[in-house]
Amino acid sequence: MSLGTGIRLADLIAAICFILALRGLTGPKTARYGNLLGAGGMALAVSITFATNGLHHFLLIAIAMLVGTAIAVPAARLVKMTAMPQMVAAFNGVGGGAAALIALSKFVTAPTGKLAVYQVVEVLLGVVIGCVSFSGSCIAFAKLQELMTGRAITYPGQQVWNAIVGAGILGLAITLCLSSTSWLIVIVLALALIFGVAFVLPIGGADVPVLISLLNSFTGLAVAASGFVLHSVVLVVAGTLVGASGTLLTQKMSQAMGRSLPNILFSAFGSVITATGGAEGDTTRSVRSASAEDVAILLAYANKVIIVPGYGLAVAQAQHTIRELADLLESRGVEVIYAIHPVAGRMPGHMNVLLAEANVPYEQLKEMDEANPEFQSADVALVVGANDVVNPAAKNNPDSPIYGMPILAVDEARNIVFMKRSMRPGFAGIDNELLFDPKTTMLFGDAKDSLTKVVAAVKAL
Ligand code: TAP
Repeated sequence: MSLGTGIRLADLIAAICFILALRGLTGPKTARYGNLLGAGGMALAVSITFATNGLHHFLLIAIAMLVGTAIAVPAARLVKMTAMPQMVAAFNGVGGGAAALIALSKFVTAPTGKLAVYQVVEVLLGVVIGCVSFSGSCIAFAKLQELMTGRAITYPGQQVWNAIVGAGILGLAITLCLSSTSWLIVIVLALALIFGVAFVLPIGGADVPVLISLLNSFTGLAVAASGFVLHSVVLVVAGTLVGASGTLLTQKMSQAMGRSLPNILFSAFGSVITATGGAEGDTTRSVRSASAEDVAILLAYANKVIIVPGYGLAVAQAQHTIRELADLLESRGVEVIYAIHPVAGRMPGHMNVLLAEANVPYEQLKEMDEANPEFQSADVALVVGANDVVNPAAKNNPDSPIYGMPILAVDEARNIVFMKRSMRPGFAGIDNELLFDPKTTMLFGDAKDSLTKVVAAVKAL
């Protein structure tokens, strides 16, 4: 077998690994295997690149790989799960930037006027999409890392300015295809970077994770474009897979939030907190609060308890304590299930991963459609650090910004217990009437502290 055939065969194997990896990632039981398969495919793809004819600068490439590994491995190991979205934003931005640079290098090193129009188009796609993804991801990272306000930033005529920049990029790109004024690529690149920033500024609050998924799909497309530039089949396949899966994920997240993608991208949702009392929430009305001992009695003598985990559970790192409480209740004969909303937390599958960390059996995790009919027969819905995903305004109040978002039917349970630290609203920044419902009991405090006290109180019964 010739070297060329060997390389093509290895490309094919790597591409198959990527496809099977995605298949593996569709379920919690096969996710680890899927991840390993994807990493294996990537290792193969990188190795065969070294066998490709005409590769130079081995030392520089080795140094770059070492630096990348030294940064990425500790970053991935040390990152807190609640900081995952910004980590994805950072890695995604770097990917988009790399794809743009690869496409640009092809343009810069080609003899003037020697690229065919279709090749210029490939370069332009790589540069423009890669730059938008890079600068957009930088802003998304800054928002999530709280280096700047996480809310939507708007100014008069914003969409018009964005449209002008977009039209400028398109006009220059067409000019570049039709003429040999190669320096125009620098202006296209600068405008694409500006467009990335301008596109992301008006997107804020709970919409940023959806934006990151969209930028992820952009990076995939930029990588596919640079695959065409380099005639690399494996880059084209990998880029297309990322682009397609990122687009599907974006769509699924928008559906789970009950909003259309254009509405998420252009409505500047979350630019203001609409909750009464602002960021502190409504502290003017009275709520029923209870002690850990009261909650322990309610739970221990129930027949059926449904636990609703949310972002606060992840912040408090209380997954092991909730598992301990669930085990304790089950040992007393209480039926316990977990109701998982598709956008609870801050990233897809956040709650599933969190609870898997505490070895909660998969069978106890019920997705929203399966969980909702169960609330009517539940004695207690125990809402731990969740807010927006149980807010009945999504079904009762047409004026609410979250109207139309499917929610967990916690309001149908006989008793509701909320564990949170204050009356502050959730990520969407809006009031939750359920906190004031006569059948609701508030247990204020950090979720882990509260759960630890409830566990001790149940043990003492
Ligand atoms: P949120 O509505 O954001 O509510 C989280 C609650 O946790 C807050 O009310 C907060 O109240 C409480 N909390 C924070 N730290 C806590 C701690 N240490 N101990 C106890 N409680 C704590 O969360 P959710 O119900 O999970 O909803 C997720 C939101 O994110 C939705 O708006 C969703 O649309 C959005 N979103 C999610 C995704 C994905 S894919 N997951 C993507 C895009 C958008 P206190 O401050 O009073 O404690």
